[in-house]
Amino acid sequence: MRPTGRRHGAPLVALWTAVAALPLPAGCGDGPDSDCATVTTVWEGDAEAFFATYCATCHSQSLAGDDRQDAPVSVNFDSYSDIVGVGPAYVRAQIEGPMPPAGDPQPGDGERARIIDWLDCGAPER
Ligand code: HEC
Repeated sequence: MRPTGRRHGAPLVALWTAVAALPLPAGCGDGPDSDCATVTTVWEGDAEAFFATYCATCHSQSLAGDDRQDAPVSVNFDSYSDIVGVGPAYVRAQIEGPMPPAGDPQPGDGERARIIDWLDCGAPER
């Protein structure tokens, strides 16, 4: 029987599910720190709030000049395609490192770890 209605994002979900289901080699140091099968974070209605709160206050296309607080004009976090464009691994390195800059509102350790896990595990959109 054919499902009716829009198959909203189904092929992508199937792909991520397949990737998440791949067994990780035990003891292999270059895989994600976490078990991606247990990571439920997605962009839509979830990780996007983190980026809006902690990143887009400087990194947003809607900001110009001094309002960007020196954030490079080419690095924005308004949308999922911005994450893909900058590159999840690069975004991860910045969140693990200097971003958000000291002195600006910081996410808690748990929230930071949750977003790093999401980036490590393919950063699914929905
Ligand atoms: C208070 C403003 C501000 C906030 C908030 C902020 N940034 Fe930045 N960001 C900057 C500035 C300034 C730079 C350029 C200087 C630098 O690289 O340290 C930058 C640079 C970057 C770069 C490019 C680094 C490079 O060297 O190419 C990335 C990626 C980045 N930020 C990601 C993030 C992420 C992800 C967040 C949220 C967790 C965030 N930033 C929050 C101001 C900010």
